[in-house]
Amino acid sequence: MKHLIVGASGQVGGALTRELEHRGEAVAGTYMSRPQAGMVPLDMRDAASTQRLVDDVTPDVIWIPGAMPDVDRCEREPDLSHAINVDGPKILLELAASRRIPLVYFSTDYVFDGTGGPYRENHAPRPLQVYGSHKLEAETALLQYDGTLIIRPAWIYSDEMNPRNFVFRVLTDLKAKRPIKAAVDQFNTPTPAAPLAQHAMDALIAGHRGILHLAGPERMSRKELVERIAALAGYGDVVVESVTLGNLPLPAQRPANGGLATNFPRFAILARLEDLNFRQILTGI
Ligand SMILES: NC(=O)c1ccc[n+]([C@@H]2O[C@H](COP(=O)([O-])OP(=O)(O)OC[C@H]3O[C@@H](n4cnc5c(N)ncnc54)[C@H](OP(=O)(O)O)[C@@H]3O)[C@@H](O)[C@H]2O)c1
Repeated sequence: MKHLIVGASGQVGGALTRELEHRGEAVAGTYMSRPQAGMVPLDMRDAASTQRLVDDVTPDVIWIPGAMPDVDRCEREPDLSHAINVDGPKILLELAASRRIPLVYFSTDYVFDGTGGPYRENHAPRPLQVYGSHKLEAETALLQYDGTLIIRPAWIYSDEMNPRNFVFRVLTDLKAKRPIKAAVDQFNTPTPAAPLAQHAMDALIAGHRGILHLAGPERMSRKELVERIAALAGYGDVVVESVTLGNLPLPAQRPANGGLATNFPRFAILARLEDLNFRQILTGI
């Protein structure tokens, strides 16, 4: 199969590219602002360029990990968030639907309000902030097409050497001996990027359409996540300062009691934090 990955330069897009290439699939990937070898530039808000690219590539599947996932920036710049998180995916929807090819969109656990996590696919969404509202709006539009698969992950982490990766940020602070604060009252199910890509592809091939939650098997607070990363990297004696969401001056409200579970256990991710080699990642920082 030939895959078009819009946003292949991102954390999920990169994991997806590696997974598909490992399976021997043909991949065409795009970047927006960070050029990468072998990828082509695309701003999915530009309908004409997007159509030209789809005509050139003639994909059998279109994947959209591309997004503006910075929750606070979305709150500050809602028009830009709408253009990237809703309007761009809707352009790709038209192109996928007219060709009758599958469309895979990465959404988020932030479509839920965090009053009763972990959430399953049939729970009613109620986003608390602009980002979640726009991702839900895109989901609703894309689900009008019966070829759409919506994947919802949560708190994605990987071994990527990039500040957008939470693990990288924590390890960088630990190595620099900077004090670390983390919320004790925000709970979620951290999701490893590589298994996310594997299970998303498995679900696509199995013909799953509609919504699918793909998150890690463990639910923990942000503070516990930081402490676990520190211990696995050899910094078990570092004291992580406890804060609460209410103390943090964040523009966008976060779901507190969040996280995801699935009604489709055959696709469930079993990989745990321990499966990443944190000491090795540390050597590259
Ligand atoms: N990160 C998380 O913890 C998390 C949690 C739950 C759900 N998600 C969802 O998972 C998906 C992937 O997230 P991620 O962490 O991989 O994000 P990321 O690393 O920030 O990657 C975003 C990608 O989108 C591209 N992009 C940005 N604007 C674009 C535009 N106008 N047209 C085309 N491409 C554009 C970026 O390109 P450049 O980098 O080249 O600019 C990049 O490749 C997103 O839908 C996000 O909402 C993420």
